[in-house]
Amino acid sequence: MIEAILNELEALQHKFEEQIVTVNSANAVEALRIQYLARKGELPQYFKKLGEATPETRPQLGQKLNELRDYFEAALNAKKEQFGQPTRGPKVDLTLPGIPRRLGTRHPLLKTLDEIKSIFIGMGFSVESGPLAETDYYNFEALNIPRNHPSRDMQDTLYLSDPAREEGDIYLLRAHTSPVQVHTMEKQKPPIRIIAPGRVFRKDNLDATHSPVFHQIEGLYVDEGVTMGDLKGVLLAYARKLLGRDIKVRFRPSYFPFTEPSAELDVWFPAKNRWMELLGCGMVNPAVFDMLGIDSEKYTGFAFGMGIERVAMTKYGIDDIRYFYDNDVRFLQQF
Ligand code: PHE
Repeated sequence: MIEAILNELEALQHKFEEQIVTVNSANAVEALRIQYLARKGELPQYFKKLGEATPETRPQLGQKLNELRDYFEAALNAKKEQFGQPTRGPKVDLTLPGIPRRLGTRHPLLKTLDEIKSIFIGMGFSVESGPLAETDYYNFEALNIPRNHPSRDMQDTLYLSDPAREEGDIYLLRAHTSPVQVHTMEKQKPPIRIIAPGRVFRKDNLDATHSPVFHQIEGLYVDEGVTMGDLKGVLLAYARKLLGRDIKVRFRPSYFPFTEPSAELDVWFPAKNRWMELLGCGMVNPAVFDMLGIDSEKYTGFAFGMGIERVAMTKYGIDDIRYFYDNDVRFLQQF
């Protein structure tokens, strides 16, 4: 048995010697090393047979195998010195499809806001902003909202200080963007042409159509000779740009303390076979001008305000406001 193995080893050595003289590159040296010495190469197979050898023959076989391994290694190392390092194939398979990177998308509310803004900027409006925490004066008083008005109720408005307080400013989170009208008219004389987007707060519980925090955009246009016709023209142009030329709209009489007359703009939704309210608007109430020191004999103006969530829901056919705040990528990536 040992004789047979020793003969095989001799044959292996001859085969190796024949091959190694033909080697002419670093890659060929490496191929030969793998063929003879790698874990599954020809020589290591014989090391496994050591276990089967009898105790008497094992040392002889072991010695022969070690000699042969040293011999192969020495011969291969000599060739390696001659040819240098083998060149490696590319580590990466460049033909494999890449790992897709998911791109972020703009939030549908921001997208909607951008669109609304660009429509009004295109009509000559500039963008204003105001604080989120307001006093009672800016949120109500200067907008001609009387002390007993239901919207002042603690059920509806998020107060930061006790509204029953007799002295000092009462702070609250603004319930609409209309206070920006007041700030603007305080610091700027007509002509005024601004829009003011931002967050607003109401004491509502979150459900499919309400959120305690949502977004509005306000508009204000004050100049000499501004009429209800201007209001209708501007808002009709806006609705058409936003929802398409064929959109059907109607102005429905309404009431806001800071506008007189007041209206709401509805748009017709054929898919739902009903009118949907898009925004509130009206001619600036002269009482507001008077309070802010703007000559109501000389100037007139119109104002409007709308919920951005509502516009986005209308535009994209979204039926639950909570989708906007959940930040579920399956929702967000659709925009
Ligand atoms: N501030 C009103 C609201 O929140 C909307 C509005 C703004 C109406 C301006 C008329 C003019 O409902």
